[in-house]
Amino acid sequence: MSSAGCSPARRLRSWGGLAGGALLAVFWLLWLLGSGPRGAPAPQATITILVWHWPFTDRPPELPGDTCARYGMTHCRLSANRSLLASADAVVFHHRELQTRRCGLPLAQRPRGQPWVWASMESPSHTHGLGRLRGVFNWVLSYRRDSDIFVPYGRLEAHSGPSPPLPAKSGVAAWVISNFQERQQRARLYRQLAPHLRVDVFGRASGRPLCANCLLPTVARYRFYLSFENSLHRDYITEKFWRNALAAGAVPVVLGPPRATYEAFVPPDAFVHADDFGSARELAAFLAGMNESRYLRFFAWRHRLRVRLLADWRERFCAICARYPHLPRDQVYEDLEGWFQA
Ligand SMILES: *[C@@H]1O[C@H](CO)[C@@H](O)[C@H](O)[C@H]1NC(C)=O
Ligand SMILES: *[C@@H]1O[C@H](CO)[C@@H](O)[C@H](O)[C@H]1NC(C)=O
Repeated sequence: MSSAGCSPARRLRSWGGLAGGALLAVFWLLWLLGSGPRGAPAPQATITILVWHWPFTDRPPELPGDTCARYGMTHCRLSANRSLLASADAVVFHHRELQTRRCGLPLAQRPRGQPWVWASMESPSHTHGLGRLRGVFNWVLSYRRDSDIFVPYGRLEAHSGPSPPLPAKSGVAAWVISNFQERQQRARLYRQLAPHLRVDVFGRASGRPLCANCLLPTVARYRFYLSFENSLHRDYITEKFWRNALAAGAVPVVLGPPRATYEAFVPPDAFVHADDFGSARELAAFLAGMNESRYLRFFAWRHRLRVRLLADWRERFCAICARYPHLPRDQVYEDLEGWFQA
């Protein structure tokens, strides 16, 4: 006579109970691993970013699967294939192509809840048609520090080892200008400086254009480079500062946002700000009369920092993935124009 406890039915039930307990324990372990402070993170899903129109070209670059991994961003896929609209985790629209109407917004096909990103690296003075874009975008990618995805034109990063040698200097000040318009503030400041300071001017507007690879070696021979922005706007600091001056090894003389903005990016003694002087004449005298030891102080940062240019749109778009988990899903720019003009 078998005891009730050993009946096949009971055994089954008790096996079931055991299995259930084991399963619970496994779940509990997984939960601990997944959510505990020292647990391994849950496996990460790949984020797909659809680029609706590649900036400034009808031919997007090749975008192999490891594109973002090259910029240190894993689980992030960039694509320019519009048939991914229905499934992309976010879609990014570059403003220039919206402005020239070479590309429209696929509003009718937009999946519910899909985040749309407005992207532009141009200043408000060169950005038109924002009034048409009310209530469309959830996130902004731009050089503005308060952007959802903040992508400066460059930054300084730590580096060790010897700093690169300073280029030999044979001139005082250089300026490269392709679009000279008298009404622009940079043109006015140049006109005021020129009588008191020798400024060698290059670029299309001067009749001395420089080939793409000639710009840096040319301006590197000058002590100062006029990093005058084409328009003055909040946080608008471009490659004229990062590349043409700092990366080239010339000291930037800046006309742009206030000194405090530059100081958020680089040490205060790494540049000369036009606002620091009562007049263009004083600025000219400061630049022209500087001795060697004072001049070298502008390069103190090069012992521990180096310039990293962020000029590639692939890297800029991959940056969306890094911010993706932290961005508000329910945010909408009802007044994108008002935000950008502020
Ligand atoms: C775009 O994606 C679709 C759907 O995944 C695929 O069938 C198609 O081949 C892709 N086109 C290109 C040009 O990669
Ligand atoms: C160089 O210029 C600085 C600042 O104007 C001044 O303090 C310093 O005495 C000068 N050095 C020499 C060697 O003239």
